[in-house]
Amino acid sequence: MKIVIGNDHGAYEYKNEIMTMLEQLGHTVINVGCDGPESVDYPDYAYKVAQKVVQKEADLGIVMCGTGIGISIVCNKVKGIRCALCTDVTMARLTREHNDANVLSLGQRTTGIETAKDIVRTFIDTPFSNGPRHIQRIQKITEIEKGL
Ligand code: RB5
Repeated sequence: MKIVIGNDHGAYEYKNEIMTMLEQLGHTVINVGCDGPESVDYPDYAYKVAQKVVQKEADLGIVMCGTGIGISIVCNKVKGIRCALCTDVTMARLTREHNDANVLSLGQRTTGIETAKDIVRTFIDTPFSNGPRHIQRIQKITEIEKGL
């Protein structure tokens, strides 16, 4: 799978760990995040990830900041993005099965690294359920986007 990953200065350490894990699992990772502790603005990195996902240059995206909140808010402003901030593997599984989320958000300050890695593996490995009621709800999200 091709996965685009972006982060601010609050999560560059997790980005490195998660990139290494994904590459060891055989995935291709596109890194559009920041690579050091200098202060940057998370909207810039959220937008880079969102663009790659909606333009289908990547299958899925991962965004990370201190809490995962700011960067997920920005991603969800982009039409076609369904970004889910997850703090456990159940959320990661259900957001793929029910919401067909195409971007995962994580917080380096709020989630332990082993949990974060489990969340990433679960998100990547869980397919959308294709359940009719879930498809209908996602279509409603798309309709709301069109009205924006
Ligand atoms: C940066 O200090 C911090 O605000 C950011 O990483 C994130 O937590 C925002 O939601």
